[in-house]
Amino acid sequence: VGVLGAGQLGRMLALAGAPLGITCRFLDPSESTCAAAFGEHVSSEYDDSGAIERFCGEVDVATFEFENVPAETARAVGERIPMRPGAESLERTQDRLSERAFVRDAGARVAAHARVDDADSLDAAISEIGLPALLKTRRFGYDGKGQVLLHEPSDVDAGRQLAGRQPCILEAFVEFEREVSIIVVRAEDGACATFPMTENLHAGGILRASIAPAADSGGTGDEARRIGETIAERLGHIGALCVELFETARGLLVNEIAPRVHNSGHWTIDGARASQFENHLRAVCGWPLGPSEAIAPSVMLNLIGEAPAASDILSADPAARVHLYGKSARPGRKLGHLTVVDEDREALARRVRALAGLPGVHRESALAAAERATVS
Ligand SMILES: Nc1ncnc2c1ncn2[C@@H]1O[C@H](COP(=O)(O)OP(=O)(O)O)[C@@H](O)[C@H]1O
Ligand SMILES: [Mg+2]
Repeated sequence: VGVLGAGQLGRMLALAGAPLGITCRFLDPSESTCAAAFGEHVSSEYDDSGAIERFCGEVDVATFEFENVPAETARAVGERIPMRPGAESLERTQDRLSERAFVRDAGARVAAHARVDDADSLDAAISEIGLPALLKTRRFGYDGKGQVLLHEPSDVDAGRQLAGRQPCILEAFVEFEREVSIIVVRAEDGACATFPMTENLHAGGILRASIAPAADSGGTGDEARRIGETIAERLGHIGALCVELFETARGLLVNEIAPRVHNSGHWTIDGARASQFENHLRAVCGWPLGPSEAIAPSVMLNLIGEAPAASDILSADPAARVHLYGKSARPGRKLGHLTVVDEDREALARRVRALAGLPGVHRESALAAAERATVS
């Protein structure tokens, strides 16, 4: 399987593929990538046609772990070998404005928003949407990058600077009750393996902790599943797809679509019967999908900016599942994650609390996740 991008998602794809006899080859412009230890790495810019040729040789099918690969690269690869998911999934989700139009067409709701093409159009957008609001670049945002929160008129200067550099959208600030996500893996024949809804805790725009399955009293999980499967179907998507949602007093709003395996599904490696990574590869290869049920309640904690030694994590909880990505430390960088899986919710919460003080774990989010994990 050829994989465009070679970060931790590519690494976890390769790790999931190994027992199935699947080997991965990566195309990624970085010199050193954390996936390269688990597959051949073609180190090149995405627009180098010779490198694309080399990447495609002996590869049966291609996929991506990074949705900002240039559409032309995806097209060039797709002309040589099957590309799954296809161009539609990439093109619809690379731009926040067209993504929101697509979501509305699919019958789901999004927050009120307006396009901001340049600094001068910001004022009109603010009169339409009001404050507080988030100004987001239309393309290339991740982990809260390319966003400015506008609270009051005095913040507008920072907004004008961002909007002067790149096309943006201004989006109403949503007073959500919680953030959830749904991961759907869709096979070529339309069959879906949909994982239980996950609750996600962010700080500073970065995912810090996930709780799965998310507590679900009012049928929210069923609605999230319907939204996710409808979006996957409308894209003709093959492989994994994540829909991030805000749960509000008035129902679910779609925040964004990631047409790939997703951080909020990392718990599935240890907490579900067949992980998002395995199921993505099965879908891409045209194989039957595996079961997506949770084995037991799980909490995933991201390790960001710094990562403890595995031995220190295991001293805090010998049963914690440790995933270190082999990346060098840098502020804000995702370096690994931990998953705690426990049938007993009180024990789960206790174990998560014991990990909350580790370097790289966001303490408040971990404590909040422990609390949330006791609710079914
Ligand atoms: N309209 C909004 N209202 C409130 N919080 C938001 C809004 N948009 C984003 N956020 C917060 O910022 C996080 C990151 O924003 P998101 O749009 O998902 O960008 P990214 O591509 O960086 O993940 C979200 O998960 C959420 O916590
Ligand atoms: Mg997001």
